[in-house]
Amino acid sequence: MKRYNVAELLQSEDFLQEVTIKGWVRTFRSNRFIALNDGSTIKNIQCVIDFENTTEDILKRITTGAALAIKGTLEESQGKGQTVEIKVTNIEILGDSNPDEYPIQPKKHSLEFLRENAHLRGRTNTFSAVMRVRSALSFAVHQYFVSNGFYNLHTPIITGSDAEGAGEMFRVSTLDQKNPPLNEDGTIDYKQDFFGKETNLTVSGQLEAETYAMALGKVYTFGPTFRAENSNTSRHLAEFWMIEPEVAFNNLDDNMDLSEDFIKEVLKYVLENCKDDLEFLAQRLIQEDKSKPAAQRSEMSLLEKLNFVIDNNFKRVSYTEAIEILRNSKPNKKKKFKYPINEWGVDLQSEHERFLVEKHFKCPVILFDYPANIKAFYMRLNEDGKTVRAMDVLFPGIGEIVGGSQREERLDVLKEKIKALGIDEKELWWYLDTRKFGTAIHSGFGLGFERLVQFTTGMGNIRDVIPFPRAPLSAEF
Ligand code: 4AD
Ligand code: MG
Repeated sequence: MKRYNVAELLQSEDFLQEVTIKGWVRTFRSNRFIALNDGSTIKNIQCVIDFENTTEDILKRITTGAALAIKGTLEESQGKGQTVEIKVTNIEILGDSNPDEYPIQPKKHSLEFLRENAHLRGRTNTFSAVMRVRSALSFAVHQYFVSNGFYNLHTPIITGSDAEGAGEMFRVSTLDQKNPPLNEDGTIDYKQDFFGKETNLTVSGQLEAETYAMALGKVYTFGPTFRAENSNTSRHLAEFWMIEPEVAFNNLDDNMDLSEDFIKEVLKYVLENCKDDLEFLAQRLIQEDKSKPAAQRSEMSLLEKLNFVIDNNFKRVSYTEAIEILRNSKPNKKKKFKYPINEWGVDLQSEHERFLVEKHFKCPVILFDYPANIKAFYMRLNEDGKTVRAMDVLFPGIGEIVGGSQREERLDVLKEKIKALGIDEKELWWYLDTRKFGTAIHSGFGLGFERLVQFTTGMGNIRDVIPFPRAPLSAEF
């Protein structure tokens, strides 16, 4: 007998067909109705027990969380809320679940509680919906790039360079931590380490991707990245997934176009393919909003927000214009910003980004041409000598979702920058080679995948959109 999944059966009209289905009990009521879920859809299938085929012992073991194999016939449902149900002819208990111990009871649990039970939270409607949407987004990302002529590039996870120059890296070493070999000056001798040099988990695949963009033309990476920044916020993880396209011969305008088109296309894909899950998540958000003060409630529903992003142009604004807007803004004048904006050159905090997006422009914003000294070394210097061809895409509720730039393709200018930042040129010899041999303008960006999942699902905390979040003091599971 073919084993169907719940999603297939709910679509089926082959009534009176004998079917087998396996899944986990969500609820069991009146000793008769089992709501069974197998993860294939947010919906459960109702299985109606026929007492003649069931023993007392079996009935006792049908508890929330138990794994069952059910045989029965598919029938048109008499009850409300479902079109089909299974009239059970046989139940096999595959795995019991002790109701006194199973943490995921059929009631509302707090997200904090579920975070502590991350190994089981996938069995709730919220987390199964989030993870199915995450999976669909991941597929849409690959589909978008592959159908637009990009090659997927696997860049290394262990690297010897700090692409962002922020020094927020996790070291990779096999040296004896208690008794490492030392240089004469007392520093650790990494020449004796596994790779014969200091290495760390990558913060970005960009530098390696650039070298392949200068060979394959259009490439993208989609892999894990690691940052040892001690940011305990709802938008930072120590381990997150980043998508980094890199395109030879693209300038900054092309790069902005690509980021906008890319985001809109992947959102369209999930709107088309994750209807049930998104509708559930939209309802969840409405419920959650009810417990918030009116000023913090969303003006748009989740689906309206997604459609709004798809249907509207992202507003493109230079850093200099943005600073003017912020300087003259009400919250700045009323000293409501934690970091007041007084002068050109300061880095923008998420309170500023969110003001621009949510209050001022009321749409996604692409800020470009940032001051050189608040951005990474590889960004192309503008003619003014003080700004670089950087771009950040800012989203409502999220702040920065994309960071990118046109890269500095001029060897002499790049070398100057590296020197000024005190980076050893020898460390980056291979990167500089791309500027020596057939250099050309090129651009790329990085999109934080979890921030995209957050935006798409409406989840407030980034730790709730990755199966097992890694954050300061948090690496259970
Ligand atoms: O702006 P970032 O640091 O840019 C880069 O790493 C470039 N090398 C990308 C490139 O041009 N190829 O990071 C890119 C994006 C951010 O906009 C944000 O969405 C996400 O990565 N991000 C994080 N997401 C979760 N947790 C963190 N700690 C993050 N740090 C950055
Ligand atoms: Mg950034």
